Amino acid sequence: MDSRSLVMHQAMLADRVRLRAYDRALAHAVRPGDTVLDVGAGLLALGMMALRHGAAHVYAVEGDPVTAAVAARIADDNGLSGKLTVLHGDARTVELPTRVDVIVAELMGNIGPEEEMPEILAAVARRSLAPGGRVVPQRLTTTLTAIEFDGEGWGLWSGDALGYRLDAVQEYSEPAAHLHFFQREPRALSAPVPIGDSNLGASAHGVTAAARKLRITRPGTLHAVMGSFTATLAPGVTLSNFPSYPGCNWGVWIWPLRHTAVEAGDVLRARVLVPENVRVATDWRLECGISRRGAS
Ligand SMILES: C[S@@+](CC[C@H](N)C(=O)[O-])C[C@H]1O[C@@H](n2cnc3c(N)ncnc32)[C@H](O)[C@@H]1O
Repeated sequence: MDSRSLVMHQAMLADRVRLRAYDRALAHAVRPGDTVLDVGAGLLALGMMALRHGAAHVYAVEGDPVTAAVAARIADDNGLSGKLTVLHGDARTVELPTRVDVIVAELMGNIGPEEEMPEILAAVARRSLAPGGRVVPQRLTTTLTAIEFDGEGWGLWSGDALGYRLDAVQEYSEPAAHLHFFQREPRALSAPVPIGDSNLGASAHGVTAAARKLRITRPGTLHAVMGSFTATLAPGVTLSNFPSYPGCNWGVWIWPLRHTAVEAGDVLRARVLVPENVRVATDWRLECGISRRGAS
């Protein structure tokens, strides 16, 4: 495992919000004696949870060869060899000796589907899920929200934010996506509007390129459009990187816009353009325009 993936796994295993949500979801999904498939098993956190919730056997499939070798060693070190089988390969093509009762995965990208979770889980469920089986998470939704920063990030580029004018910077901003970790929660100027909604294990689409209307609900200065995800892990158990949600390790994607005063009733039309075969949202473009309240 190179040191970049090590740090990535460290951040994921330190994320208590994430682990608590999966623990609750697996308590709901796993029944005593179940066979579970952990897709993209990493260092086995979810597979181990499934065993704790009564699974008889876990197949832990990991695509990265070094991570898979470390996972096999961890299974061995914890005396799990008879109950947990680590398999190296792409979960879409790995052969299992049996169909499984539960599929669990954590492949959410910062805007939701860019790690291809909908496609991967649809393919895996088709091959390996027993009739009546369960998938964790159940659903993945991506939303866009119009936001105003609260004195950080692009919020600084307004008029006299630091006592002198910095607004020339806005002339140079482009509607390219940036990964952002908020220090202070931004003000949402619209409700979150879905641009993608996948029933995991069944539907394979990520985000739609159709234009969406973000209706402005309060007066303010439009600074950016934010893209974030919400995963429904089980009934009543959600995990989200929306900034008002208790802290987890994901950032959100934001598309900075030229600062624009808006009123309740204005409508921002926004459309995310995803180039074919481009996974990283840095290259996802946002097209948008504003209609003023009352304008036809
Ligand atoms: C976000 S990490 C989650 C690790 C672990 N499940 C956890 O929750 O801590 C995703 C893991 O899935 C693996 N992965 C991604 N796509 C995969 C695929 N198609 N087949 C098997 N493993 C995959 C990656 O190598 C990575 O280790």
